[in-house]
Amino acid sequence: MTHEPQNVVATQNSAHGEGHDYVKGSPHLRHPQLRTMIADQLAALVGETIARKGSCHVLEVGAGHGTFSSFLLHAGARVTVTEASEASAATLTEKFAGRDDVEVFFDSTGGDIFERDDQFDGIVCAALLHHIPDYVTFVSDLTELIEPGGFFYSAQDPTYYPRRNRRTHVAQRGTYFLWRLGQGNYRRGLATRIRRVKGEWTETEASDLVEYHVVRDGVDEQALVTELEQHFDEVELFTYWSTQSPFFQGALARMKLPSEFGLIARRLRS
Ligand SMILES: C[S@@+](CC[C@H](N)C(=O)[O-])C[C@H]1O[C@@H](n2cnc3c(N)ncnc32)[C@H](O)[C@@H]1O
Repeated sequence: MTHEPQNVVATQNSAHGEGHDYVKGSPHLRHPQLRTMIADQLAALVGETIARKGSCHVLEVGAGHGTFSSFLLHAGARVTVTEASEASAATLTEKFAGRDDVEVFFDSTGGDIFERDDQFDGIVCAALLHHIPDYVTFVSDLTELIEPGGFFYSAQDPTYYPRRNRRTHVAQRGTYFLWRLGQGNYRRGLATRIRRVKGEWTETEASDLVEYHVVRDGVDEQALVTELEQHFDEVELFTYWSTQSPFFQGALARMKLPSEFGLIARRLRS
């Protein structure tokens, strides 16, 4: 089963290559308050599963360098992690070497996981869905890998731009721009900016492919809620403020601008 154009997956592989720093541009990894929020939510889901059935086997799709895999393990889960980036899969293999509660799966097509027979107690996606062109179908297919009673969790995707209020949109764009000014590589940044303003996306431009849905109106969280409600007894959508700059993360967090969202779906129906 192929879930995304091959060039999208190939770009994941090159964009998240050797030495890639996941933390640098990722607010949910950089800012303790966001990292803790996600870690606590994951620990609660793992804890509930262990209380219900004595163990918990989680699939984490697109685990990067395993920040949240470690939190899942700490909460008592057994973890299967997938990565479409060969370099990241190698880093995960090295990081978790010698552990019998971790399996690392290099998913070179981004869809090989669907060819396996495994079933999981829960599935976790962190900062993943905005990389997947048809993310609603992807999530729907993931639910088939979950045991009845199990959970689905996702966080750190941009809310759907057409439904965003103006304050959120302006704050997101403005704070990103100010942060970007401190990052150098201005020629590429300016070229990308000009193409964004013109509304141009191309299937050959790495930055367009890596941030597939970020440049195509964010991610439609309501479509995902509708999809998940067909499978789960309980679906919770939560939104929060997230931006790269530590200063603006702190300064604007109290305004609770819904720039990012997460989903917690509990009790998959049989
Ligand atoms: C923004 S990073 C997030 C990494 C990690 N989840 C985190 O939050 O630190 C997205 C990761 O998903 C991986 N990825 C994208 N599509 C994938 C797919 N279909 N299957 C597995 N990994 C995928 C990319 O290679 C990349 O490492």
